[in-house]
Amino acid sequence: MRFNIAVLPGDGIGQEVMAEGIKVLKAVGQRFGHSFQFYFGVVGGAAIDQYGVALLPETLEMCRACDAVLFGAVGGPKWDDPKASVRPEQAILGLRKGLNLFANLRPVKVFPTLVNASTLKREIVEGVDILFVRELTGGIYFGRPQKRWSTTRGRRAVDTLAYSQGEIERILRVAFELARGRRRHLTVVDKANILESSRLWREVTEEVARENPDVEQDYFLVDACSMHLLRRPRDFDVVVTENMFGDILTDEASMLSGSMGMLPSASLGQGKRGRGGRLTFPTLGLYEPIHGTAPDIAGQNKANPLAIILSVALLLRFSCGLDEAATAVEEAVNQVLEEDYRTGDIMSPEMKQVGTVEMGDLVVSKVQR
Ligand code: IPM
Ligand code: MG
Repeated sequence: MRFNIAVLPGDGIGQEVMAEGIKVLKAVGQRFGHSFQFYFGVVGGAAIDQYGVALLPETLEMCRACDAVLFGAVGGPKWDDPKASVRPEQAILGLRKGLNLFANLRPVKVFPTLVNASTLKREIVEGVDILFVRELTGGIYFGRPQKRWSTTRGRRAVDTLAYSQGEIERILRVAFELARGRRRHLTVVDKANILESSRLWREVTEEVARENPDVEQDYFLVDACSMHLLRRPRDFDVVVTENMFGDILTDEASMLSGSMGMLPSASLGQGKRGRGGRLTFPTLGLYEPIHGTAPDIAGQNKANPLAIILSVALLLRFSCGLDEAATAVEEAVNQVLEEDYRTGDIMSPEMKQVGTVEMGDLVVSKVQR
């Protein structure tokens, strides 16, 4: 089969890891007899320098016409001025909203070979396997009004956390469905003791739960959840939550695995045949490592490409419907780790340290075999 992939490397190590992701996709194509056509776009700081905006409308259109989007990372000190009206992050927010990618899947899995890379004790992190489902196109990230103004008593600013019943229903349906394919336990995270929007989430959860009696479901307040994630992370299966809570909790949870350099993500929208919030596969999705541009190590062949390589596996699974190929990539990553190869971020004594390109080559060699 033939697939069109939009490739948006972005800034910093985004460029370097993307090269490895593409290498792996090409190797998959060869082994399984598929062809991937790549369409490159400039986004983030690079696009601000070239075009004055982080995301051109043409780039968004190009992505919409593709089967999937592979995204690197955007940002860097050069474009960090919080007062600037154009910011690199506008690229990723524009893509999420513009492509209606409302369901952000962030699996946090502790590789048996990497239990020692975590700052937490082995007995806490061993066997952790959590799937975060973060609502991605609503909540405080996109609520209006969002503005700042001056009054006689000084400056004021407002952000808005808003959710509609429909937005909550569709993300919950995705979460329940994913839980059904796993350990059948769904945790809903909110701040229902304070926020009206969270109370609506709970009400809607009760309704959607009735359609899903085979999945056990519970609630956590976000502050308590952040504590339990470190105390007993193994107890979590699928966690669904509002946009900003999901942003914060997934950075925290990434540390269970030892390095942000290991974690992939998929942002999915409703497929062409999807109705009533049901995801149907394959569907258009955007795939990105959860790490940023790491300006401190950019351009030095030090970045860990495994997060984008594991994102490629998700791309194959969700947007191409190629389960076997996806599993082959994940197994290739496992094998390379089992053979003791490590990038600097997950390095430990007695292991063999390699750079970005070498790590990519190793994975490719396992995919080819
Ligand atoms: C993430 C990032 C983004 C977010 C930024 C870069 C806009 O932190 O994907 O988690 O806040 O969603
Ligand atoms: Mg984040």
